[in-house]
Amino acid sequence: MADLRQQRVVLGVTGGIAAYKAAELVRLLVKDGVEVQVVMTQSACSFITPATMQALSGRPVFTDMWDPRVSDNMAHIELSRGAGLIVVAPATADFLAKLANGHADDLLSTLCMARECPLLVAPAMNRQMWDNQATRRNVAQLARDGVVILGPASGDQACGETGMGRMLEAQQIHDEINSSLQPKLLAGKQVLITAGPTFEAIDPVRGITNRSSGKMGYAIARAALDAGAQVTLVSGPTNLEAPAAAKIERIESANEMFAAVKKHVRGADIYIGVAAVADYRVAKPSEQKIKRTAANLALELVPNPDILAYCAGLPRPPFCVGFAAESQKLHEFADAKRRRKKVPLMVANLAQDAIGADDNEVTLLDDSGTHTLPRAPKTVLARQLVAYIAKLYSSAKTTRSGTAKDAKDAKV
Ligand code: CTP
Repeated sequence: MADLRQQRVVLGVTGGIAAYKAAELVRLLVKDGVEVQVVMTQSACSFITPATMQALSGRPVFTDMWDPRVSDNMAHIELSRGAGLIVVAPATADFLAKLANGHADDLLSTLCMARECPLLVAPAMNRQMWDNQATRRNVAQLARDGVVILGPASGDQACGETGMGRMLEAQQIHDEINSSLQPKLLAGKQVLITAGPTFEAIDPVRGITNRSSGKMGYAIARAALDAGAQVTLVSGPTNLEAPAAAKIERIESANEMFAAVKKHVRGADIYIGVAAVADYRVAKPSEQKIKRTAANLALELVPNPDILAYCAGLPRPPFCVGFAAESQKLHEFADAKRRRKKVPLMVANLAQDAIGADDNEVTLLDDSGTHTLPRAPKTVLARQLVAYIAKLYSSAKTTRSGTAKDAKDAKV
């Protein structure tokens, strides 16, 4: 996982009322230990003062190409040297037009032109300016040029209107920056993930399911995307929003999940089975709603396919990762499961701790032994886990064994 304390970010601020949110963004990044170099346009200084940004970032703020503090007069090169990324927030319609057309007539636009790092922009403008054909063209061009467009959001605007064009909140921009700074450990890899519960119908209105929230699987999908992977997420019923960049397949039953996994697994480099798949389904779900009677009701259950064992047993299996939720004897049961399903890595957690919670503690079991990831938010654990999987995957590929014999070196 990237240590943000070693990261340097250039924050460009242009002249829009949302400039006040940039102050909060500086505060959030500085709190993470990021070194923030603020660069403001002249019109940004009409909305918020450089003194505010200097106080929050703890660094001098630059507004001018010809700042005498830069001895060689190359502020546009100096300021972004070593930067992990440049983010422009807010980015006005005018600034987007400049960027799209390659203009370099002030410090910030020149700095963006001369960059070697990724560029993120958070547009902020009146809804008609956002809808204007010229802005649409400029945004499309920037996306083609590889610039990451963050938002905008829809809502109340400073001009009194309501619509698209509000800058994202500082926290959302902070999270996008954090994602962008993650090391691309899975660049170019196809990762297939199952998440959430399955739902096995009893009749048209009832079914058998479990308490899995899908939070861990979705967090892993997000972390794998941040690590540069292409992600397919096969998800049972959840209330969660899938990461926009993931290919999502929504299913209900274990059999539907199995069909979706079979469709995607052949192209996958890595398969991560996070879903809590129902072990049984009703043999013959009733076509009509079952009516209450005084008599006992017996449901005949038949076993569902084991999706993880199927993937691991393919002639050329992807690198398979399983999740074991146990209510007792965690290590013993999880290790037995790992061996039975023949997967190189099993992630074990106590079911009563994990289900539905926002944080968790997990133990990783592989050929090198066990390794505990201490209690942390699932989003943090997901990143640690993806880093671990990436290490094991590359050593497994090197040894061509399909299991990770070199896993001792794999540190989170
Ligand atoms: N799994 C699967 N297909 C199933 C059952 C489980 O792919 N029909 C996967 C899960 O996605 C998880 C791993 O197997 O990665 C372990 O799931 P778990 O429910 O703990 O294992 P079971 O084999 O069902 O064992 P048990 O319920 O008896 O503990």
